[in-house]
Amino acid sequence: MLTSREIHLAKYPEGIPEPDDFDLVEVTVPDPDIGEVLVKNIWMSVDPYMRGRLRDRKSYVEPFKPGHVLTGGTIGRVVVSENPNFSPGMYVQSNLGWREHFLSDGTDLQAFQPGNMPPQAFLGILGMPGMTAYIGLITIGEAKAGETVFVSAASGAVGGVASQIAKIKGCRVVGSAGSDHKAAWLRDEAGIDAAINYKTCGDLETAL
Ligand SMILES: NC(=O)c1ccc[n+]([C@@H]2O[C@H](COP(=O)([O-])OP(=O)(O)OC[C@H]3O[C@@H](n4cnc5c(N)ncnc54)[C@H](OP(=O)(O)O)[C@@H]3O)[C@@H](O)[C@H]2O)c1
Repeated sequence: MLTSREIHLAKYPEGIPEPDDFDLVEVTVPDPDIGEVLVKNIWMSVDPYMRGRLRDRKSYVEPFKPGHVLTGGTIGRVVVSENPNFSPGMYVQSNLGWREHFLSDGTDLQAFQPGNMPPQAFLGILGMPGMTAYIGLITIGEAKAGETVFVSAASGAVGGVASQIAKIKGCRVVGSAGSDHKAAWLRDEAGIDAAINYKTCGDLETAL
């Protein structure tokens, strides 16, 4: 058995979340039983949808509950395994973030090999934000070469990937972002055709 730490929701935040909306709690994690796996989290993602879960109202995902540990996308490594499908050192993806260690029966774990990619990329470009950008742009948006694609929040996790996939597909890409620094990154690093700082451009339609 070991002592682990996890973040619990203390109360629903008013406005911007503050540290006292959360509690850092020490918990005891027992040794894994037959069929179980002990996982140590090494990376977790804090995503915009989590703000919606910090409200006590109905939505497409359940609200977080005060007094309970938070959840969210995370990458961990197997420490001890009593489950034949997992071995120590394996990388696993789960939704059991906001805690250092946890026990699982394996059904909520997805094992993966990072290859030559950093493991945390599986929370970003190779994970939910990357898939959101790809499915939104290609499967739903059906972006085609020669079309002009406008991406708002273009330097964010999803927008940055959507912008670059659109360029790869041969589109003309125009993005908006909230600072000159972000707009410069979009033009100079991400390689899109034009970027607008929506905070300083004046009338957005004219800028477009
Ligand atoms: N449905 C799904 O499966 C799914 C999956 C992933 C993400 N999403 C949604 O996609 C959006 C982007 O997610 P993300 O992971 O890319 O988030 P992110 O990396 O946190 O980026 C969000 C960006 O939004 C911009 N922003 C903030 N306030 C804004 C405002 N008032 N007007 C315009 N832009 C504003 C900020 O950039 P600036 O400084 O440039 O304004 C920020 O960088 C979120 O709404 C998220 O919930 C949905």
